[in-house]
Amino acid sequence: MKNDILKTVVSVEEIDNICKRLGAQISEDYKDKKPVVIGLLKGCLPFMSDLLKYITTYVTLDYMSVSSYNGGTSSTGAITIKRDIESNVEGKDIIIVDDIIDTAITLTNIVEHFKKKNVKSVRICTLLDKPSGRVVPLVPDYAGTIIPNEFVVGYGLDYKGFYRNLPFVGVLKEEVYKK
Ligand code: PRP
Repeated sequence: MKNDILKTVVSVEEIDNICKRLGAQISEDYKDKKPVVIGLLKGCLPFMSDLLKYITTYVTLDYMSVSSYNGGTSSTGAITIKRDIESNVEGKDIIIVDDIIDTAITLTNIVEHFKKKNVKSVRICTLLDKPSGRVVPLVPDYAGTIIPNEFVVGYGLDYKGFYRNLPFVGVLKEEVYKK
């Protein structure tokens, strides 16, 4: 599987440093709060797992799974919730964790979804930010690193469902797409 990777974009060491930095920042910002950390499946899994190890305040966890339709009629597209959270988040501080923000259609819709549920506050934490891909403006509250406009896989990100289990983020060799 590793042989399919052309180059590393974010290494194992860089990912660990990002998780430490963001974990410390979140711990400080939420030291007097008990936020609900909500992961967006499936891509959030490795990042959320590592990030949580560096969060030292009280948190509860939940997960949701959505599909986005970027070719929708509205400028911000639309999402369908495939699996919703189990917690009641009304009046709660929530942090949404994801692996990447590209067009920002997914997260913009999710933020609106939670505002309608009357959360106290909502913030976004992403490992990767690809500002060049934006269709709607969105600045994440916590971002690991900015990446260029390349299709990346690994550490939660997939191509045809594979590569999520790579411990780093990288670019696939062109020949892999041609298979
Ligand atoms: C990916 C990623 C984000 C979203 C970002 O999820 O995990 O949730 O796309 O894209 P956007 O900013 O352009 O909306 P995907 O829908 O591929 O599901 P997955 O996490 O199961 O891979």
